[in-house]
Amino acid sequence: MILYYSSTGNSRHVAREIGRRHPGEIIDMAEAGRNTCHILADGETLFIVTFNCFWGVSRLVQDFFRRHRFANVGNVVAVITCGGFPGAGDHALNRILRANQLPEAEVYDLVMVTNYVVLHEVPEPAVQRQALAAADRRLRQILDGQAKPYRSPPLTRLLGLLVHGLYALFRRTRAFTVSEACVGCGACARNCPVQAIELFQGKVKWRKKTCDHCLSCLHSCPVMAINYGRRTIGKRRYHHPGP
Ligand SMILES: Cc1cc2nc3c(=O)[nH]c(=O)nc-3n(C[C@H](O)[C@H](O)[C@H](O)COP(=O)(O)O)c2cc1C
Repeated sequence: MILYYSSTGNSRHVAREIGRRHPGEIIDMAEAGRNTCHILADGETLFIVTFNCFWGVSRLVQDFFRRHRFANVGNVVAVITCGGFPGAGDHALNRILRANQLPEAEVYDLVMVTNYVVLHEVPEPAVQRQALAAADRRLRQILDGQAKPYRSPPLTRLLGLLVHGLYALFRRTRAFTVSEACVGCGACARNCPVQAIELFQGKVKWRKKTCDHCLSCLHSCPVMAINYGRRTIGKRRYHHPGP
């Protein structure tokens, strides 16, 4: 079984690639509903693919593992996609798995392309292509058992408490703005994994005070009308080129 959560397609691409090697059920954690017990074939590997979020994992992933249970899991292998540095993502994920009585995961970090335009810039297309090709090569090594799992050092774990602590502040939706360019197409609302956005009389509105801060709304807007504060204005948007 493969569980994934993806905002701009990187982690979904990885989940699908794993699925080509290990055919089985692929579940999008954002669409998995509530309170399910997933029964695996005896000793089956549970794969988890998600993006790194402030050196940890996002709220949606935390909530998913609070609500879902698993039976017959043999081992857990996780791939955390990131834009540059996974911080204490391995440690955060394993804490969540322990609370769910799941075995500790063998975690691999996979640098792809950053979508965190609040702090960084999405690189130009040629650089993206190189990064994604390198990520595909590394993913093959991971699946061939030729890559070393990632284990964050103690100092990074300590710093991770601070870095991930900031996530709560950024989850507030009041910093999102919609410009006049908005055409009311509703792509942002359709793509929001936590239904935090609605279209009211053709206008985009945030109906929740907090969201997952995945930036899927911002990246899926076809006219770049959505911004988060001023730092994202005019910056390149991103989506993995795969289907
Ligand atoms: C809220 C948020 C926080 C992020 N934090 C980090 C981070 O701490 N380190 C990092 O390398 N990338 C970080 N990123 C970048 C993503 O992890 C990276 O672009 C990832 O591959 C996106 O995967 P996706 O396309 O499946 O959503 C962050 C992205 C978001 C939206």
